[in-house]
Amino acid sequence: MTIAADTARPAIIFDNVRLGFEEGDVLRGISFSVAPRETAVLLGETGTGKTLVLKLAAGLIRPDSGRIEVLGRDLGAMTERDLLDFRREIGFVFQEGALFDSLTVEENVAFRLREEHVDEDEIAARVHESLEFVEMAEAIAKLPGELSGGMRRRVSIARALVSRPSIVLYDSPTAGLDPVTSQKIITLILRLRDLQGVTALMATHRLQDAFALANFRFDPKLCRVVRAAENGARGGPKTGFFVLREGRIYFEGDQHQIRDTQDAYLARFLE
Ligand SMILES: Nc1ncnc2c1ncn2[C@@H]1O[C@H](COP(=O)(O)OP(=O)(O)OP(=O)(O)O)[C@@H](O)[C@H]1O
Ligand SMILES: [Mg+2]
Repeated sequence: MTIAADTARPAIIFDNVRLGFEEGDVLRGISFSVAPRETAVLLGETGTGKTLVLKLAAGLIRPDSGRIEVLGRDLGAMTERDLLDFRREIGFVFQEGALFDSLTVEENVAFRLREEHVDEDEIAARVHESLEFVEMAEAIAKLPGELSGGMRRRVSIARALVSRPSIVLYDSPTAGLDPVTSQKIITLILRLRDLQGVTALMATHRLQDAFALANFRFDPKLCRVVRAAENGARGGPKTGFFVLREGRIYFEGDQHQIRDTQDAYLARFLE
């Protein structure tokens, strides 16, 4: 007996999540979900709360109210200790890359494993595997300052992958990169989705990245990115698009719905 992917419980569920600071509420009751093996896209202008949503999903911060469930676990019911264990299953690609400048690429990628006192042979194997995946194995002994912005972003992705997470959260992974380098990053994200079946949420202001995720897939036989036949036809889940605006999910749908929108705000976003 097989269970259809679309009947599986979502890997990430936000239910009426609110979060505010002294200046007022930033998230005013947001609800959305991400299916297993889906890479969903979180769009929104600067300051709408995309980074906060990712940090909430990773259990790095807690909401004022509402429920967040990740991989079947209610984050609100977890102690700080539980959350530390939970975060091993989450890869986080931070917006700024956030590499340690004084550590080599190897030390940056291995950092989390060393903190967890993983065996050095195992660390060497995992660091190599992660750097190979992002095609940065030659840079293993370099310092972040010796790398280009795109290379640093790839090392950040390697660092997020080193614990073999089942969920990866990408915070604006192509921001500030040229189109060719952005395409390389998107290809990596497609490979993770289509070869390894990771579930992901990607925050971005770049709609072309969102469309690339929805319209392309990584073909393991051809070993390259090909156009997806039709959304969902690759056997995996659809690519959900969520647009954050003024603390709420202003739009939720697929790439056809957002492209064909008559809504004036979304249309401006598409320009
Ligand atoms: N620790 C904090 N204290 C007070 N305000 C905060 C804090 N963290 C975030 N904010 C505010 O919450 C809002 C949303 O921030 P967030 O970083 O999530 O936006 P974003 O959508 O990721 O923006 P960008 O596209 O520029 O990355 C901003 O107005 C920010 O100033
Ligand atoms: Mg942000």
